[in-house]
Amino acid sequence: MDLKNFKLETTSVWSFPDRGNWYTHYGDYPGNWSPYVPRNLILKYSLEKEWILDQFMGSGTTLIEAKLLNRNIIGTDINPKAYAITKSRLNFAYDSTSHIHIRINDAQDLSFIKDNSISLICTHPPYANIIKYSADIKNDLSLMSYNSYFKAMAKVAKEAHRVLKNGRICAIMVADIRKNWKFIPLGHYVINEFLKVGFILKDIIIKEQHNCKSLIKWSQREHECYLIKHEYIFIFQKESR
Ligand SMILES: C[S@@+](CC[C@H](N)C(=O)[O-])C[C@H]1O[C@@H](n2cnc3c(N)ncnc32)[C@H](O)[C@@H]1O
Repeated sequence: MDLKNFKLETTSVWSFPDRGNWYTHYGDYPGNWSPYVPRNLILKYSLEKEWILDQFMGSGTTLIEAKLLNRNIIGTDINPKAYAITKSRLNFAYDSTSHIHIRINDAQDLSFIKDNSISLICTHPPYANIIKYSADIKNDLSLMSYNSYFKAMAKVAKEAHRVLKNGRICAIMVADIRKNWKFIPLGHYVINEFLKVGFILKDIIIKEQHNCKSLIKWSQREHECYLIKHEYIFIFQKESR
């Protein structure tokens, strides 16, 4: 599949073997998501010129898609390297009128964004400490113990709920993990934090993982447990009041 033949997903199972490499999507940022994911979410849950938020922007995949789809977007990341990569990847010629605002920021505190002002949240946090995004940046979720990670996700959920307009969607991708051969249902814990702040769970999408380096390591011990080869995209809605 390429961009020319792109069709919106219609079921709760998504799989993108070719991952997508149009414009400045290079797929080289650790744990980046396929541009097919934000493209689907943006087209389904927002209109042109509405404001989107990706508070864990990484290499800017969501922002590139927002530019291509003529949406306004705020992107943040706690790591200055992510900021620099995103800035350079947004530097391509395209006839778009979208406003794009990027900054270095902790997703636990979005105080620079007004209440009820965002039309779609489309984001992809670290899966706890499975990939470490920095050596020592304070509040980098990928450096935290599980306890601190879930406390931080509670704050992320609270802020996401505050800035989102009533009735609109917060889509977030995470995965379960294994640590010392134990299964940690990260996805379930993350759902819980988002439900606790008042979101309604509208859908769970299972996304097949491709080209995941850890699969090679696990495949050598496949007799012990199944390889985790899926991620979740949780579709939360802020209840209309
Ligand atoms: C899974 S990556 C996002 C990848 C992105 N979707 C892409 O396609 O490039 C998660 C990002 O969260 C960032 N991050 C970690 N802790 C953060 C925090 N407290 N606030 C904001 N960003 C954070 C990391 O620096 C990393 O870039």
